[in-house]
Amino acid sequence: MVKTLLSVLAGEAVSPPPIWLMRQAGRYLPEYRALRAKAPDFVQFCLNPELATEVTLQPLRRFGLDAAILFADILLVPHALGQKLWFAEGEGPRLEPVCDAKDIAALRYDAEKLSPVMKTIRGVRAALGADTALIGFAGAPWTVAAYMIEGRGGTDHETIRRWAWGQPESFARLMDLLVEATSAYLIAQADAGAEVLQLFESWAGAVPAGLFERAVLEPTSRIVAAVKAKHPRLPIIGFPRGAGAWLPRYAQATGVDGVGVDQSTDMASLALPASTARQGNLDPVLLLAGGEVLRAEARRLVAAMRGKPFIFNLGHGVLQPTPPDHVAELIATIRAA
Ligand code: CP3
Repeated sequence: MVKTLLSVLAGEAVSPPPIWLMRQAGRYLPEYRALRAKAPDFVQFCLNPELATEVTLQPLRRFGLDAAILFADILLVPHALGQKLWFAEGEGPRLEPVCDAKDIAALRYDAEKLSPVMKTIRGVRAALGADTALIGFAGAPWTVAAYMIEGRGGTDHETIRRWAWGQPESFARLMDLLVEATSAYLIAQADAGAEVLQLFESWAGAVPAGLFERAVLEPTSRIVAAVKAKHPRLPIIGFPRGAGAWLPRYAQATGVDGVGVDQSTDMASLALPASTARQGNLDPVLLLAGGEVLRAEARRLVAAMRGKPFIFNLGHGVLQPTPPDHVAELIATIRAA
């Protein structure tokens, strides 16, 4: 049995393309909501191997996806660094903000806190079919630092930008800490059985051009190098969301095997090395609509990417009000394309 996701990440064009979806496990699935109701604390939910394994497998039982993505969260790294993290009902994540060099000095990465994640990976691997790949993941340093410093999502990132420009030494210290912790976390995921790793740089679009090198390219390439030193053949996908114009430079500078592309970029005209895999980028809103517009746009994307190493995905995660039937419809359309 061939895992088509791995073939594409090795630079091959596969038809029909492999498909998985960011946030393929989550609140749009009734079976997810039922399990989630049993574990009101989201951090403890992620750190419960039995529940996390089950939730990872839920979308695979419903849809014939080509990959499972580990059920966890990018904010488990700040949690393991000792930062206070909680999820306010209906409001998203909250963290006790890191405010200065003294707060950074108090952070210590405790790998033991994330050992339940490794247990989840072993549980999922044991349950997966021979044609389904398991993706592990982490947040990239700028994005995780943005949550750590801002204390929440959805801001204009003024606080982290002010810090990065105004106190470059302590900003570099935080980046170093995150490079180390994230590398160790991803290596542990690969040791446990993750076959592909994705780095989510969800707030790449908030990075001023003059900071992109030290906030995104440099920390990401250090993580890629550290993981590849231990797992040379393990493919890595980088997803610098909102930074479409940087993609060719990002692919070249970081050494990733594939790039995630959000829905604002035209995939067909992306100037990437021929062997770099491209992943994306259907607008998640099309899954709310369903029907002919969904099918036509999905087919158009597959046709535009024919002959290239391409992984079908959305431009960002599945939205909560998405009807699961529309996901099934999308997958059937791709398989027939
Ligand atoms: O199926 C999967 O994609 C795997 C699991 C996964 C989750 N979060 C589960 C989750 C993954 C890969 C993530 C990554 C993640 N987490 C990112 C990067 C991707 C992106 O969306 O840009 C970010 C920024 C986070 C931080 C985070 N976690 C936010 C902003 C939120 C709240 C948003 C929301 O939808 O409520 C979370 C919570 C979260 N992480 C949920 C899930 C399924 C919803 C929590 C719930 O059940 O109440």
